[in-house]
Amino acid sequence: MLEIKDAVAVITGGAGGIGEELAKYWVQQGGKVVLGDISAEGLSRVEAEITAMGGQVATMVCDTTREEDCGRLADLAIEKFGCLNLVAPAAGIIRDGLMVAPDKETGKVTKKMSLGNFQAVIDINLTGVFLTVRECAERMINHGCRGLICLFSSTGSLGTAGQLNYSSTKAAMSVMPKVITGEFFRRGLADKIRCVAIAPGYVGTPMVKGMNQKALEGILTQVPIGRLIEPAEVASFVGELYRNEALAGDVFFIHGGLRLGSKG
Ligand SMILES: NC(=O)c1ccc[n+]([C@@H]2O[C@H](COP(=O)([O-])OP(=O)(O)OC[C@H]3O[C@@H](n4cnc5c(N)ncnc54)[C@H](O)[C@@H]3O)[C@@H](O)[C@H]2O)c1
Repeated sequence: MLEIKDAVAVITGGAGGIGEELAKYWVQQGGKVVLGDISAEGLSRVEAEITAMGGQVATMVCDTTREEDCGRLADLAIEKFGCLNLVAPAAGIIRDGLMVAPDKETGKVTKKMSLGNFQAVIDINLTGVFLTVRECAERMINHGCRGLICLFSSTGSLGTAGQLNYSSTKAAMSVMPKVITGEFFRRGLADKIRCVAIAPGYVGTPMVKGMNQKALEGILTQVPIGRLIEPAEVASFVGELYRNEALAGDVFFIHGGLRLGSKG
């Protein structure tokens, strides 16, 4: 079992939602956090709150789609705290819409998912995660750090109508733990650095609160526990995955029993 006390977490998307909650959970358990986000304002708020909690925190404004930013974020962890034990690339976006939307009366396509909305989600949710994880893994290996890379997939990885872009990136997050674990195994590193993904259902964060509220109400009728997952429940789940070194190379769902795929 690993201990969170004194462990260093690099969290992207740390200025809000799941990333912020994970950062606060991590310092409550005695860990240290390095937070990256595009929101400077959000980062200073979270930094002040964590400092007030007595936690150790470093922040950096970074855009995870930029290779250089991801390298600098990983360097910050080493410079400030000397190690890097948890990588949690939580920065992510949604840009929902149907791939092609035929008009209900004419049956002719009047709207399409734009290339911009497709590409933006791929850039942040897939390429941004690749860059964050690659840069952090490099530092972990070179500094002999032990720990976990915890990716954020989603129940959307199973296919959600209206989210061709998002679901595609989340399906990619589901396969990455297998690939990364296999690569580390080949190089004799898999006992030191594990990789998993968590796949949450609908979590009460700004991302979900910004969704179409009628659609969200409909979704909640499909959730056996009858409510959104709390960000704090996701954060403590990541903590358990970190501590338990038998968990590696797979996807772990946290969705309150959501009837997967019922209506997509
Ligand atoms: N909320 C959910 O129901 C849910 C469910 C499953 C998976 N997830 C995944 O969990 C992760 C966190 O989601 P959330 O609900 O906390 O989202 P959120 O929108 O509440 O927070 C995301 C954070 O990422 C930051 N961000 C966006 N683009 C960035 C970029 N290019 N570089 C750096 N930071 C950037 C935002 O500023 C924001 O602070 C995402 O990957 C999301 O897909 C969320």
